[in-house]
Amino acid sequence: MKKKLNLICNDSEIEVTVHPGLVLLDFLRKELYLTGTKEGCREGDCGACTVLIGELIGNAVKYYSVNSCLLPIGDVNGKHVVTIEGLNNQELTAIQKSFIEEGASQCGFCTPGFIVSLTGYFLSNKKFDVDSAIQAMDGNVCRCTGHYSILKAAQTSTKFLLSKITESKNYLNNLINVGLIPAYFSSIKKRLKEIEQKSFLQMMDSPLKFAIAGGTDLFVQNWENILESDINLLSYSEISSAIKEEKGICIIGARTTVTDLIESEIIKKHLPSLKDKLKLFGSVPVRNKATVGGNIVNASPIADITSILLALNAKLHLKKNKVERSLPLKDFYKGYKTLELKKDELIDKISFKLPTANSYFNFEKVSQRTYLDIASVNSSIFLKTEKNKISNIQLSAGGVAPVPLLLKNFSEFLIDKELSSSNIREAVSIALLEISPISDVRGSADYKSLLLRQLIFAHFITLFPKKISLKEFA
Ligand SMILES: Cc1cc2nc3c(=O)[nH]c(=O)nc-3n(C[C@H](O)[C@H](O)[C@H](O)COP(=O)(O)OP(=O)(O)OC[C@H]3O[C@@H](n4cnc5c(N)ncnc54)[C@H](O)[C@@H]3O)c2cc1C
Ligand code: FES
Ligand code: FES
Repeated sequence: MKKKLNLICNDSEIEVTVHPGLVLLDFLRKELYLTGTKEGCREGDCGACTVLIGELIGNAVKYYSVNSCLLPIGDVNGKHVVTIEGLNNQELTAIQKSFIEEGASQCGFCTPGFIVSLTGYFLSNKKFDVDSAIQAMDGNVCRCTGHYSILKAAQTSTKFLLSKITESKNYLNNLINVGLIPAYFSSIKKRLKEIEQKSFLQMMDSPLKFAIAGGTDLFVQNWENILESDINLLSYSEISSAIKEEKGICIIGARTTVTDLIESEIIKKHLPSLKDKLKLFGSVPVRNKATVGGNIVNASPIADITSILLALNAKLHLKKNKVERSLPLKDFYKGYKTLELKKDELIDKISFKLPTANSYFNFEKVSQRTYLDIASVNSSIFLKTEKNKISNIQLSAGGVAPVPLLLKNFSEFLIDKELSSSNIREAVSIALLEISPISDVRGSADYKSLLLRQLIFAHFITLFPKKISLKEFA
């Protein structure tokens, strides 16, 4: 099922007829010979393949970084793809100069990825600072230079730009004038509007083997099969990526990405702790593509978004053609990777009641390294109190059973009980009877039980620091 696609790659408009599931990295390197974009892990872990995608949203072009090894080319139809070659100017850019000044490159294999990520950060943030610039490179790994000099290069680049760019008006032109990006960037908005007409694509073919949302799970597991199958790129479907609030209910389109969650004003207002906690999810390029629907259907026992939504007692709204139904997320998992999902049925949206007064929410995750790692164990809690008694409570636990769990007996024990360390300790011993962890690369079964115990304590210490302290659990 080849399709005709139109895109802008760097400064060139391209029309190509290819399988829409072709991995963008392979297209760039093998068809366009843009070999500055490197192939490292091909699993989203190293960032050597990072490119920028520019997308026309309203009247502006929004740029974000992605791992081109996990991106189907069909998803860049009508968009601007920027590789390291597309950042080259007559002379080196401020970022490239900083890398040289700070000795931040040796073999150079990782360098294009770092420079693309950092450029993408400045391109998409009129207000920038050193810490956030460094965080923007959280998906890039260097194996030979050592990260310290790379951090210094980010620092030097940020200082240079802070000294040169004093106002955010005509920000794009400012970046061009200081040599951070080439002049052709100023023509991209107009050119994307022109190719928008050509780039309409009917993606739904039948029978469908793969429904692809962000592709961050599917392209790790199955990219070769995808290339031989009919696929459904959900970015062309009616499934939305919007987050809405209606009468105290939060409604999340299944294509909402983790970055969308972090940036959502609704989430910031009602679940403020998530903004920082979600930065423990993958890396910037992974979060830019990973969707809520994909996280739920991939059905990993340690899926972070699923853990959060379970504790919030979320409901799934499913759709197959025009037939719709809904069910609680907790009833979706029937066994390891076995779902209450019919053939060709899709998650359309997810909804949950937004927290009200006296409601508390927390998410905790422990992994072998803090960033860019999946959890050994994760857990989320939602609770409501009335007159120092717990009136409603849900606790989820991931990595301690074949499916993401909601710990029913734990909650039943605590309902109508006082918020005290002795009650919490007793509830924890009940929780540990509800789980069935196994020993694997992420830790032994005993270690995972211990982690869950500590995470439950961490929930209460974080949420009620004046009432519950660490020494009461020692
Ligand atoms: C480097 C790296 C780091 C990661 N770190 C984390 C992490 O920290 N925490 C974590 O939880 N996960 C992590 N992941 C896993 C992954 O990013 C998430 O599970 C992500 O949310 C999957 O979403 P997606 O849109 O990319 O799914 P896809 O790969 O597009 O799809 C996954 C599955 O869901 C199905 N699907 C997608 N959308 C729908 C829908 N609307 N209806 C029905 N079926 C659908 C697909 O058919 C497929 O079976 C990581 C992955 C990588 C590569
Ligand atoms: S090749 Fe390593 S993240 Fe893509
Ligand atoms: S410079 Fe060699 S891997 Fe980073």
